[in-house]
Amino acid sequence: KRIRKYATPLTVPQVLSPARDEARGPAHYRIGVRQFRQQILPKGMPRTTVWGYGDVSKAGAFRSPSGTIEATVDRPVRVTWVNELVDAAGDFRPHLLAVDPTLHWANPPGGTAGRDTRPAFTATPGSYRGPVPIVTHLHGGRSLEDSCGYPEAWYLPKARNIPGGHATVGTFYDEFGAEFARRHGVAWQPGSATFHYGNDQRAATLWYHDHALGMTRVNVYAGLSGFYLLRGGDADLPPGVLPGPAPRPGDRPGTRYYEIPLMVQDRSFNKDGSLFYPDSRAFTDSAGPYIPDGPFPPIWNPAFLADTMTVNGSTWPVLEVEPRRYRLRLLNGCNSRVLIMKIVTDPLAHRPAPPALPLWQIGNDGGFLPEPVSQRQLLLGPAERADVIVDFTGLREGTELYLINEGPDKLCGDDFDPSHPATTGQIMKFTVGRLTGKDRSVPPEELDLPRTRPLGRADKTRRLALDEQLGNDHSVKMMLCTIDEHGQAVPKHWHDPITEQPALHATEVWELHNWSAHVHPVHLHVVQFEVLGRGKDGHQPPRAGDRGLKDTVLTFPGEITRVKAVFDLAGRYVWHCHLLEHEDNDMMRPFRVG
Ligand code: C2O
Ligand code: CU
Repeated sequence: KRIRKYATPLTVPQVLSPARDEARGPAHYRIGVRQFRQQILPKGMPRTTVWGYGDVSKAGAFRSPSGTIEATVDRPVRVTWVNELVDAAGDFRPHLLAVDPTLHWANPPGGTAGRDTRPAFTATPGSYRGPVPIVTHLHGGRSLEDSCGYPEAWYLPKARNIPGGHATVGTFYDEFGAEFARRHGVAWQPGSATFHYGNDQRAATLWYHDHALGMTRVNVYAGLSGFYLLRGGDADLPPGVLPGPAPRPGDRPGTRYYEIPLMVQDRSFNKDGSLFYPDSRAFTDSAGPYIPDGPFPPIWNPAFLADTMTVNGSTWPVLEVEPRRYRLRLLNGCNSRVLIMKIVTDPLAHRPAPPALPLWQIGNDGGFLPEPVSQRQLLLGPAERADVIVDFTGLREGTELYLINEGPDKLCGDDFDPSHPATTGQIMKFTVGRLTGKDRSVPPEELDLPRTRPLGRADKTRRLALDEQLGNDHSVKMMLCTIDEHGQAVPKHWHDPITEQPALHATEVWELHNWSAHVHPVHLHVVQFEVLGRGKDGHQPPRAGDRGLKDTVLTFPGEITRVKAVFDLAGRYVWHCHLLEHEDNDMMRPFRVG
C-alpha cells in the first residue's frame, strides 16, 4: 500500500522534565528505554513497534525520536539511563531487528575481550536472540570518559530470565573500579548507568543516541535517539533575537513554536507496519551478495538507505507555519544517508530543483557559525546538525513549500544520481497559515553571531586514513588506519593498541586522508574541532557551514580533511565514522587523552 504523504502533522518532541531540579546542583533525569508501538505511518495504516527513551515515571511519554533534554551552559545534568527492554513478565525482550553475532560486538555475556565465553545467548547460529545491551552517548558533549557512552560500557536490562552469575555489563567496567565511580560521582548498577554532563561548553544542538559496540546501527534504527539542546553562556544570543519560543516542559498541546528541532531519518516498513532492516547480507545489490565462509549467515550490510523519509517520527509530515521566521534545528539522524536539502515549490520538479527560499544557516554541530550564511541547499551527513532560519514572511496563506532531498539513494561517492523525487527525494511540507502575532526576531542577514576564539598553534599533526577493502568474495571491509613513514596505510582494528594519545591540553591537527571511494562522516568524541581545510591537498577552505566548531565532518573520497582540536579532558574516548553500518564493523578506534 502506498504511504500517503503530508497526511500527518509534524510532531514536535516534548521536553523531558528532570526528576529533581535543585536550584544548585545538577538536574537529575531518570530516562528509560522501552519498547512500544507508535503511529509512524499515517493514521489508518498499522502502528510500528519501536524503541524509545522516556521519563520512567510516565508510561505514555515514550516516543521515537525521544523527548528533548533542555540544558543550560555550566549547569550540570545527571541522567540515569535505564535499560527497560523487558516484557510484562519481566523477561528480557530480544532485539526487534537482526543482530549480526559475527561482528566484533557487545556480545553478552563475554564482552569482546572474552571475559566469559559461555555461549549463554549466542548458541544458535543466525541472529542473536538474547537480551539487548545499550549505552547512551551524548553526541557533541564534553563528557568525562565514564559518562561518554564508551561502546564497551553497555549493560543489559534487569530481567528474570538472565541466568544468575551472568555478566550483565560490558568490559569497560572491568577497568574502572568503584573508586573511580565515586570520584566522578558516576554510578552504574545492573540495568542502569548514571552519567554526568558538565555542560561546560558552547551552546549548541547536541543529541543523544545509543552506542553499544557493533549494534549501534540496529539500536538507533529501532528508535534510540533524541535532541539535547544546550543554551546560555557567552556563545548564545539573548532571548528574543532568534525566532522562539521553543518547547518547554509541560507545554499544553497546541502551543505554537517558532523554534523547532527536526530529526530527519529514513526508514523502511514491512506490510504489517514493522520496521524493515536487512536481516541478510544478500540485501545489498550494489556490492553483490556476500558469500559467507563462517559458521553464521552474515547479516551486516555496508550501508542501508531506506525508502521512506520520516521527520520527528512521522513519515512525510506537514507543518502549518505562519508567514514569519522560524528557527529549525536540523539533524541528519539517518544510518547512512547523506542529505542535500532544499526548500522548493514543486517537490516533483527535475533535479536539481530551483530553491524557493534560502536556508539561512546560523549554526552547526558546535554552536553558532561566525556569521549567517545564505545556503541554496544544505549538505548534511549522518550526525551533522544545521541551525537554520527560514523566513516565510510575506507568503500568502495557503502557500505550500516542500523540504526536499537531492542527496543520493546510495552510499555517497564521488558522483551520484539524486534520490527519487517521488519518495526519498521528499522530506516534509510547509503550509503557510495566518500570522498570529508580530515577528520581533532579527532578520537573519542582520544577525551578529557570537564568535569563537580561534584555537592556538598545534603541538602535533597526525596523519590518519580511511580506507575500504573489497574482497573477491564481495566482502567489504571498512578501515581506519594510521599512515607510516613510507606513506602506507596501516589498518588498525578496535582492539589494537591505542595509537592516538594526545597529551592533556594538547592542540592537535588530525589529517584525515580518505582513500576509499565513499564519503565518511568522521566524529570525535569529547572535543569540538575547527575544520582547517579540505581537498586533494587539505588546503582548500572549509565549506561555509563547516566554519566555527564541529564534532562531525564529511570527508570526501580522494581528499584530505584537516581538523584541529584541543584535547583538554583526560580519558579514553572514541573516534569513528558515523555511518552507523561502518562504525559497527570496525571503523572506530579508541583514543586516549593524557
Ligand atoms: Cu553520534 Cu560516537 O557518536
Ligand atoms: Cu564510513
